[in-house]
Amino acid sequence: MNKSTEILEIIKNRRNTKSFTDKDVSIQDIEYLLESGTWAPNHRNTEPWRFFVVQKNSLLKKIISKEMIILQEKKSNKLLSEEQKNKIKITVANAPSLVFVFSLIDINNEEVTEENYGAVCCAIQNIQLVATSIGLGVGWSTGTISKIDNLNTILGITENLKITGVLSIGYPDLKISKTRTNYKTLTKWL
Ligand SMILES: Cc1cc2nc3c(=O)[nH]c(=O)nc-3n(C[C@H](O)[C@H](O)[C@H](O)COP(=O)(O)O)c2cc1C
Repeated sequence: MNKSTEILEIIKNRRNTKSFTDKDVSIQDIEYLLESGTWAPNHRNTEPWRFFVVQKNSLLKKIISKEMIILQEKKSNKLLSEEQKNKIKITVANAPSLVFVFSLIDINNEEVTEENYGAVCCAIQNIQLVATSIGLGVGWSTGTISKIDNLNTILGITENLKITGVLSIGYPDLKISKTRTNYKTLTKWL
């Protein structure tokens, strides 16, 4: 297998990962992934990615799950049962490292803000691919956890940032398979 085929294999083997083993991810591995993120393309060299790592045993997890429960209750306009609340608490507590990834907002230039968002998505893809190459899995969420109230305060954010995703990073415990539509049916050669 030549190098370019290896890269394509990693790209194809990357899966959005939601189920993890108990094995801890080392700080060095997280740092390796974040470094890969910072080598993503970024127009005007704005380096718009910001990472906030909530480690597996972080005390912040309790606050995060509490806020998720509040948000779910607001969304559904009814109180969650104890069972539903516990499910959220356990999911967050058991989650592997959580990396909150943000992109820089340029309040004077919507185009730059959009370019920054694109660049941060590329950074996330770098992270996912490098993770795949070392046996880790990444789950990208733009769900409740990324939308909780007071997220900026909880994470101590001082810049003007927009959430791009919350990445759960750990060792996958399931092998997931996916298919894709062949590019040929989505491509027009002119
Ligand atoms: C911008 C973006 C947001 C996403 N948000 C979520 C999410 O909130 N929850 C989730 O389960 N997956 C989320 N995903 C992952 C996709 O659902 C996943 O990539 C898709 O199902 C294809 O699966 P694959 O990545 O394993 O090929 C997100 C992906 C992207 C690019």
